[in-house]
Amino acid sequence: MDYSRKISERQWNLPDKGELESRREATYIDDIIQKDHIQRKLLENLDGIYTVFDGGAGCGRFSILLAKQGCRVTHFDISKPMIDKARELAEKEGVLDRITFVKGALEDLSAYADREFDLVMSFDAPISYTWPNQNRVIGELVRIAGKRIAFSVSSRLGSLPYLANPIQKNQFILDEETDDPFVQWCVENKEQMIGGFSFSQQAAEKLLSDGLMGGEEEIAQYEQGGAPWCITYTFMPDELEGILKGYGVKDIRMSGPGAYGRTTPREILTKIMTDPAQKKDFLDFCYRFDSNPYVCGMGKDNLLAIGEI
Ligand SMILES: C[S@@+](CC[C@H](N)C(=O)[O-])C[C@H]1O[C@@H](n2cnc3c(N)ncnc32)[C@H](O)[C@@H]1O
Repeated sequence: MDYSRKISERQWNLPDKGELESRREATYIDDIIQKDHIQRKLLENLDGIYTVFDGGAGCGRFSILLAKQGCRVTHFDISKPMIDKARELAEKEGVLDRITFVKGALEDLSAYADREFDLVMSFDAPISYTWPNQNRVIGELVRIAGKRIAFSVSSRLGSLPYLANPIQKNQFILDEETDDPFVQWCVENKEQMIGGFSFSQQAAEKLLSDGLMGGEEEIAQYEQGGAPWCITYTFMPDELEGILKGYGVKDIRMSGPGAYGRTTPREILTKIMTDPAQKKDFLDFCYRFDSNPYVCGMGKDNLLAIGEI
């Protein structure tokens, strides 16, 4: 049984997913930084791009952005709540007529022809949720791309620090008083997470060597009717570059959105984010720092790659 896809499908089809995901940049500072970085990269790489495939497009953060730039976008996602939210937001932005919504899984892109889209993109880790098929999925995304490919996956070097920091997400909470259920959980459980923590070298070595977050426990939860977080495959930068080169992608540029911001404590991050002038300067500088390929692995969760076909 294809557990990974089934688990992802159940998790992302939870009814409140679309609403919660659409509020991420109003809730978490790391999401502000990462999405700002991807937006800048996209807008800098739109020459010759008229048709776009967005795989795992979510609530439309980037499909709507490119439709607003005049592109025709195929918004593809495994989740109906995400697509419903994206449709609502696209209507508000006046770009419904430029977006085709398709419910489907990245594991099957056989409906699309070779080089069908000028740009093929997929952001914030949908590819990582297709384990154990992630390499084949990248190959399929490259196959349907005519000019350019741009995507972000979970980063192994970026994820390993979580194993020594169970309260990492707390660093990026914009407002601790918000009614977001996960923010409330993080705030209420902070002391318990610290008190109950002990570092496991074995767990860190395992993630470093096999790249997998999740596995048997998630499968057992799924079998009992639960909706665990997706089994996630995390990539090393050289591994990802090698896969893309193997599929013939040229001029590969990699970056690590979030690498600079993760060094800053929450007290300072929230100060910066609530002052518009500082926020602009900080995001400008994060973009410059995080675009350096030497930090690409240490982008917070994500490793971003852009290449030419
Ligand atoms: C973290 S969200 C990212 C959304 C959007 N790309 C962004 O950057 O804002 C991940 C998205 O991937 C979708 N997804 C997960 N597994 C998928 C799969 N196997 N095929 C297609 N979409 C998938 C989820 O439904 C969700 O909308």
